[in-house]
Amino acid sequence: MTAPAATQPGLTTTKAPYIEAAQARGELYIVQPYEQYSDANHDTWRRLYERMTPRWARYANQRFLDGITTLSLDPTRVPRLEDVNQFMRPRTGFRAKPVSGYVPAFRFFDCLRNREFPTTITIRDGDVLDYLPEPDIFHDIGGHVPMHTDAAFADTLVKFGECAHVAAEIVQGISDTQEQLRTLTSIQQAMARFFWFTIEFGLMRGPTPDECKVYGSGLLSSFGEVQHAVESPSVQRAPMQLEWVINQSFEIHRYQPLLFVIDDFEQLFDDVRRLEQWMKDGKLNNVAPGGPAIGEADLRSFLEAGH
Ligand SMILES: [Fe+2]
Repeated sequence: MTAPAATQPGLTTTKAPYIEAAQARGELYIVQPYEQYSDANHDTWRRLYERMTPRWARYANQRFLDGITTLSLDPTRVPRLEDVNQFMRPRTGFRAKPVSGYVPAFRFFDCLRNREFPTTITIRDGDVLDYLPEPDIFHDIGGHVPMHTDAAFADTLVKFGECAHVAAEIVQGISDTQEQLRTLTSIQQAMARFFWFTIEFGLMRGPTPDECKVYGSGLLSSFGEVQHAVESPSVQRAPMQLEWVINQSFEIHRYQPLLFVIDDFEQLFDDVRRLEQWMKDGKLNNVAPGGPAIGEADLRSFLEAGH
């Protein structure tokens, strides 16, 4: 018998002393204290991975499946970020960067621009495999990171990060404070909606014209929703349309009733380029009201960018 309480305080979401201490010290970027994962944490990873594997085989985009192979994740143990990075960096230069919690929007996008992916290191409680409001390492490494081994997808994320810089420059040039906040809120909503409907919940057409597969990480880390997204007759699956996406509100804590389908990642990259141009043209300054709400910390992160 081991004495887990003394040697393994655990890195369970919302119950990790290591994370609380880092947050109290104001440290956002941290190291992954691998020895602190408890046996229960590893067991949670194993169960999540095991039940997800057949769903990935059935519903995931081929690029994602290739990414899973490339990363050589251990199905039975929480991944070590250093190991993940060793396999990923030679492909696209991306690396998973451990964080203690929420990364304000501008800083998050700026990391993407530098080919760094802010990565949660805690894992959900084993009693609630299905639902958790926060991201965890299964969402970030099991859902996002395999996509970052694909060159076209990785370039799209970098381009998205560049968009955030354009946004910061635009709003920092507005002298009227009220107008500045209003414009920034609108631009951020457009960016958040785009990110949500593509990177988190995107579908891709294929392999036949009538079929689609999943590339969005929110879906790829959800046992229930990945099937629902592809199979349910109640889901609207619309061809990707930038005009629609940037004006479309969404709710977080439910299965998504509306999803957008791209043809390939080249289309996605082109759409981010268009998003950037529309931003420069002022076309994102008045998007339709509605969700998501943009938080104070996110707004401030754009206003303080480069300062
Ligand atoms: Fe995510």
